[in-house]
Amino acid sequence: MNRREFLITTSVAALVPRITLASTPTELVAQPVSAQILPVGEPATPMLGFNGSTPGPVLRTRQGEIFDIRFRNQIGEGSAVHWHGLRIDNAMDGVPGLTQDVVEVDAEFAYRFRAPDAGTFWYHSHNRSWEQVAKGLYGPLIVEELTPPDVDHDLIVLIDDWRMTEAGTLADGFENMHDQAHQGRLGNYARALVEPSTPVRRGDRVRLRLINVATDRIFPIEIEGVDGKIVANDGMPLVSPQELSSLILAPAQRADIIADITSPDQIAFMFPTQDGPYLLGEIPVEDANTERQPSEISALLPNEVTQPNLDNAVSLTLTMEGGAMSRRMMQGMMGGDIWAFNGQSGLTDTPFHLFERGQTARIRLVNDTRFPHGIHLHGHHFFEVGADDGLGAFRDTTLVDAGETRDIVCVFDNPGKWLLHCHMLGHQAAGMKTWVEVA
Ligand code: C2O
Ligand code: CU
Repeated sequence: MNRREFLITTSVAALVPRITLASTPTELVAQPVSAQILPVGEPATPMLGFNGSTPGPVLRTRQGEIFDIRFRNQIGEGSAVHWHGLRIDNAMDGVPGLTQDVVEVDAEFAYRFRAPDAGTFWYHSHNRSWEQVAKGLYGPLIVEELTPPDVDHDLIVLIDDWRMTEAGTLADGFENMHDQAHQGRLGNYARALVEPSTPVRRGDRVRLRLINVATDRIFPIEIEGVDGKIVANDGMPLVSPQELSSLILAPAQRADIIADITSPDQIAFMFPTQDGPYLLGEIPVEDANTERQPSEISALLPNEVTQPNLDNAVSLTLTMEGGAMSRRMMQGMMGGDIWAFNGQSGLTDTPFHLFERGQTARIRLVNDTRFPHGIHLHGHHFFEVGADDGLGAFRDTTLVDAGETRDIVCVFDNPGKWLLHCHMLGHQAAGMKTWVEVA
C-alpha cells in the first residue's frame, strides 16, 4: 500500500469506538482474539491478545507494590512476557533463552516482581516478538506515584499501526526480508487507543500516558486542543518539564504529558505524514471545568536513581551496522544476518560486556546505517548524553538517527543477563541484538 491508501484507510479511524480494557487481573492468558481494528461495519481481525482483548488489560499498581501474575500460554506456539522498562529481578524479565525457558503451548509461568519505579510502562511478548507483538500481544503497565500529580483525568494513549489486507486480516510475511532490511514492518493503518473512554471538560487538567506499541514505526505526534508539558520519558520524570512541541516516539518509547484542555471540542492526536497531518484518534470534550485554577505544571517526584560515577566509567562503543544500502551488508557479518552490532549479528555465548555490579559505563552508540534505530536496554535506565556533554533524559530506549552518534551513561546495578537490542522488532529479528551481564 502506498501513502495515499494509508491516508484514505485511516481517515475513518476516529469513528471506531475505543477499546475497553479490564482492570488488573492476577492471571494473564495469551490467546487468539478477534478485534475490531477496522471501523465498525468492516470485518473484525483475527489477532492475539490477553484475557480476550488486544491491547491486553491495564496492569496497574502503586509504587513499591507487587505484581503477581500467572501467565498462561494458549496461542499455539511458545511465548513469554517482558515487562518493558521495569527495573526488576532478572529471572522475571521474560526473555526466552536468556532469563527463562520459553513458555510452551498450554504451559504457565508465574511472574512476581515489585514495581520499583512509578511511571508509564508496558508489557509485551518477547518470543518471536516481531510477529507476536504485531499480532497484538501487548498491554499497558502503570505504576502510580504514592502522591500522584493533581489531574482530573489519567489517560493511557496506546499508539499502533497494523498492516491490514483488504479482507481485514493482518497481512502475513512477518519475517519479510525486504521489510527487515529497511524500516521494518510498517502498517497501512494506525490509531491511538485511549483508555479509559471518559469525556473530558475544557479547563480540565489531564495526564496523558503515550506509549508507542508499534513494532517498527516511529511516530511523531502532535496533540491539538491542549496546552501542556512533557513530564516524563520512558516512565522517568524529567527534572524540568519540557515543551510539548516536537514529540517523537520510537517503538517502545513513552511520554507522560500533563496538559490543560483548551479546546471546546476535542483533543486530537495527529500524526504528521508527507501527505499532511493524519488523525490517529481523539478524546471528546464536553462542558467546562470552571473550578480549576490556573497553575504551573511542575515536575513529577523523581524515582530513586543511583548517580553515575563518571570519573571511573568504562568506555564502550556499540556500532550499528548492516541493512539495505550499507557497506557492511555487502561485506557480510559474523552471524550472517541483516543487522549487527560491532560486526556481530544475533546473540553470542559471551556477553558484549561483563560489568561489575554498580559500575558506570559510557557507551557510544554509533549508527553506521541508513536507518534510525531505537536501542533498548533491559533491566536499567540510562542517561542520554546531550550536545553539551551533560546528562539528559533518563530512558530505557533511545532513538539514534541514521548516521548519528549518541553517548549514553548507565549505572549497571541490576545483576543478571540483560538484552540490549533494537526495538524496531524487524531489526531485532534480523540480528540487531546483543546482551550484557552484571555480576
Ligand atoms: Cu520492549 Cu526486549 O523489549
Ligand atoms: Cu533498528
